[in-house]
Amino acid sequence: MDHTDHTNLLRDGVATPGGVWADFGAGTGTFTLALAELLGPGAEIVAIDRDTSRLRANEQAMRTRFPETNARYVAADFTEALELPPLDGIVIANALHFAPDQAHVVELLGSYLGPRGPVTRRGVQH
Ligand SMILES: C[S@@+](CC[C@H](N)C(=O)[O-])C[C@H]1O[C@@H](n2cnc3c(N)ncnc32)[C@H](O)[C@@H]1O
Repeated sequence: MDHTDHTNLLRDGVATPGGVWADFGAGTGTFTLALAELLGPGAEIVAIDRDTSRLRANEQAMRTRFPETNARYVAADFTEALELPPLDGIVIANALHFAPDQAHVVELLGSYLGPRGPVTRRGVQH
């Protein structure tokens, strides 16, 4: 799968460009890059991962390919409550299954969504 495939996987879940989104368990940026493509330069993206080396690779890829996107990188455990702005959308791809208590994480994710935050669930494996 390539960037176009990743972007197409998210496309139906992104109703409008812009806004504030977070990519939980963002890793090296597969879906952070796809989000940047779909949301455009006016968006803010928060990429969250507990693995700092993966986050650094994510940041480097984003700076190279989407330098105009306002992205920030948070080294954190998504099973714990995080300080985040109200989110318009969330991506968590290939990462939720690492959490021992997935229901707790889904509840936390829901608490981050602002009034415009849609919920689209899609099973993705790549
Ligand atoms: C299989 S990778 C998926 C990366 C990316 N989302 C993708 O689909 O290509 C899983 C990522 O989730 C991160 N991760 C797993 N559990 C986490 C947790 N509790 N808090 C933060 N990051 C976590 C890992 O460090 C890893 O980068």
